[in-house]
Amino acid sequence: MIVCSCNRLTDRDVRGCCAQPAGAPARVLDVYARLGCAPQCGKCAPTIAAILRSEKSTLACDCRPQNCNCAIEASGAEAA
Ligand code: FES
Repeated sequence: MIVCSCNRLTDRDVRGCCAQPAGAPARVLDVYARLGCAPQCGKCAPTIAAILRSEKSTLACDCRPQNCNCAIEASGAEAA
């Protein structure tokens, strides 16, 4: 699915950035840079940010499962 029509980026392109050996990009701007482009209109930024949060929440952590807040923190939601 195209997520950025200005740069013709797909959700797979963005998810592919997260799978690189360097790890998931820290910021949305880093996604554009890794894919060799730059934001134009910026309308795709919220969608790219949501994909980043989703991918980060699937990353493994060293926490014990019953105490792990990594996925919650990566999603941007507040922990209870
Ligand atoms: S849709 Fe991505 S910069 Fe315009």
